[in-house]
Amino acid sequence: MANVKFHSGEQVPLEMHKVRIVQKLALPNVERRLEAITAAGNNTFLLKNKDVFLDMLTDSGVNAMSDRQQAAMLIADDSYAGSETFTRLENKIEEIFGMKLFLPTHQGRACENVIAQALVRPDSIVPMNYHFTTTKSHINLNGGQVEEAITDEGLKVTSTDPFKGNMDIDQLNSIIEKHGANKIAFVRMEAGTNLIGGQPFSLENLAEVRDICDRHRLLLVLDASLLADNLYFIKTREEKCKAMSIREITWKLASLCDVIYFSARKLGCARGGGICTNNEEVFVKMREFIPLYEGFLTYGGMSVREMEAITVGLDETMDEDFINQGPTFIAFMVDELVRNSVPVVTPAGGLGCHINAMEFVDHIPQNEYPAGALAAALYIASGVRGMERGTMSEQRSPDGTEPWADMELLRLAMPRRVFTLSQVKYAVDRIVWLHENRHLIQGLAWVEEPKMLRFFFGRLKPVSDWQEKLAAKFRQDFGDSL
Ligand code: F0G
Repeated sequence: MANVKFHSGEQVPLEMHKVRIVQKLALPNVERRLEAITAAGNNTFLLKNKDVFLDMLTDSGVNAMSDRQQAAMLIADDSYAGSETFTRLENKIEEIFGMKLFLPTHQGRACENVIAQALVRPDSIVPMNYHFTTTKSHINLNGGQVEEAITDEGLKVTSTDPFKGNMDIDQLNSIIEKHGANKIAFVRMEAGTNLIGGQPFSLENLAEVRDICDRHRLLLVLDASLLADNLYFIKTREEKCKAMSIREITWKLASLCDVIYFSARKLGCARGGGICTNNEEVFVKMREFIPLYEGFLTYGGMSVREMEAITVGLDETMDEDFINQGPTFIAFMVDELVRNSVPVVTPAGGLGCHINAMEFVDHIPQNEYPAGALAAALYIASGVRGMERGTMSEQRSPDGTEPWADMELLRLAMPRRVFTLSQVKYAVDRIVWLHENRHLIQGLAWVEEPKMLRFFFGRLKPVSDWQEKLAAKFRQDFGDSL
């Protein structure tokens, strides 16, 4: 990962850290895995972690911390108001983003709640490069609508475009023209666009969006939850930024935004969140919601220990040797799967490796949730827990119809610094086996379908006995192997 060439010519992502605390894992046998996924209503969110071998559900709150983060947690200053810990975090935010005003929250979606309550009105429009599940729900809940302006390339599963998360400038202009600038609550850019495969935007694109916001006097809000990966891609893929340090790129990028918010479960490898800005008017509007929903202004629902870990984690995010681990491991996994003809999102992005379920199980119609079915099948085949990112992750329209997702993806997240390369190879091995046996996989149907954010705790059943057949084929092929 650092600039280290292997004599063999092999491309190996070499870690620039060592592991000093470990957690024992268990891999239940295939019969137990079938029982577990059935008990979980075929929803990987409902699996118990004791039944999971490699937890690739998410990168949220499960990244490995550094020794410096752990050490900082021991010297936290606990007080309801005015703790030194908060001041340290506030100062670090100002040092890195150049923003003086900071509001702490307990996690990313809490920032979205506060921002939406402060800025979204009934009939507001929020243009964005691409939506995220909780972001959209908060905007809708406050009566607003999301309008996406992702480039055409962003929605192509396979592409060579290095910046598939870019905002399409023409589309953004037409959204503003169609609704009128006074209806736009703010323009939102999401770093490392989550739902379309962890794809980054370029610094150049953000600057173009800024120009348009200036022309129409619109606020530009950055969701920086996945900023670490996006920074790495700007540094390595954007010609004009190759000579800039990660710190310089971050400073420049932040200078283009009015408000930056983040989930510190991702950015900074801890747990928590926050909103920062230099805009006093917006700050005052948002501030009143913090004591109401989160906690006092100097902790916002976070423990002081976590705040100390975020301060150090943000500092470490400025170190390329730390933030390249995720993207380089993901690239390794994507390359291995492509070599084995498994359909995946390319180019490799951040967050995780994304399998294209629409092609992997092209015999399953969208109303039987191909990505959800594939997530259940992969768990049975491997004990690896992934997450459906497709139609199940969308909400029904008010008339009860289902909007089909643009992409049906099985996301295999790569929590930062958590897995070894042999574990990644194991996941690849079982995915390749599953791909060879893909005709055995069939769809899912709802048994319990919650109205809001149904993917979190809804329950489904297989449309036939395909899961028993899949488990039996596994036994036949792998003998008594786990
Ligand atoms: N924005 C983005 C881009 C996210 O990926 C997430 C969370 C949030 C906001 C909300 O942050 O979880 O701290 O409340 N993504 C997680 C995931 C849940 O697994 O992709 P949160």
